[in-house]
Amino acid sequence: MAKELNARYWEERYTAGDTPWDIGSASTPITTYLDGLQDRGARILIPGAGRGHEAEYAHRAGFRNVFAMDLTDEALKDLRERCPSFPMDHVLVGDVFTHHGSYDIIIEQTLLCALDPSLRERYVDTMHRLLKPGGVLVGVLFDQVPNAEGPPFAASLAEYQQLFAKVFPSARFERCHNSIAPRAGRELWVKAVRQERGTVACAVYDGLEAAATMREEVKLVLDDGSERTSVPLDIVHRDDGEFVLLRDGTELDIDRVRKVVRNIIP
Ligand SMILES: C[S@@+](CC[C@H](N)C(=O)[O-])C[C@H]1O[C@@H](n2cnc3c(N)ncnc32)[C@H](O)[C@@H]1O
Repeated sequence: MAKELNARYWEERYTAGDTPWDIGSASTPITTYLDGLQDRGARILIPGAGRGHEAEYAHRAGFRNVFAMDLTDEALKDLRERCPSFPMDHVLVGDVFTHHGSYDIIIEQTLLCALDPSLRERYVDTMHRLLKPGGVLVGVLFDQVPNAEGPPFAASLAEYQQLFAKVFPSARFERCHNSIAPRAGRELWVKAVRQERGTVACAVYDGLEAAATMREEVKLVLDDGSERTSVPLDIVHRDDGEFVLLRDGTELDIDRVRKVVRNIIP
């Protein structure tokens, strides 16, 4: 039976000290990236932070809004002990998939490969939801992992490209040139920007507002090419984005809507 990769699973691995993924310091592709950033006030989320080496590095480098999140406190307590000046309210114990927030930067470091592959699409959707428009997901992905049975679960470059393309059409991948020696040649650097609202998005917004006011049934063309017919009731603004509330009760991320077709014939 497949392992359930829940909080208990990870907690037991930390308690047993069975943490071969932990390199004991911040990963060099990430420290190089952080060193090159100007804005020390950027809101940075590190999901699946584990013992928080990258979070500690960023904090000590002067980044003021770094948030380290993990499913288990068993991992994060190490960060608290090592780095007492790290703001305690920036240490988040929880599941990134149910987390609400809005970040300029999300740093990926061995979270995606730790997830069951069936969660990959949910991962990219969640990262997109948690980024501000113009925000960026960066970090390291494995494209080769020796174990047949994960975690870690690697994917090929082509699989990553396909996975990210739907929600991050401009995502870029390149071979890391500064991996630590044991990981050299196995890491890809990903940079995926959540697109800013453009004129198309403004037209979408206007169309949704007009239809919501008129309680009019419209056809919505979504980012994956699918279509949905419903009556928009409201536009909901939250700190994790904007959502259109549909008549059937679902909240659809406005960024997923590419076109609003009005005056449809019932
Ligand atoms: C392979 S470890 C990597 C930890 C750390 N990034 C590192 O490189 O040392 C994966 C981490 O992701 C955490 N994790 C797994 N699923 C998660 C989820 N849904 N939300 C938040 N953290 C999660 C686990 O508890 C574990 O600490």
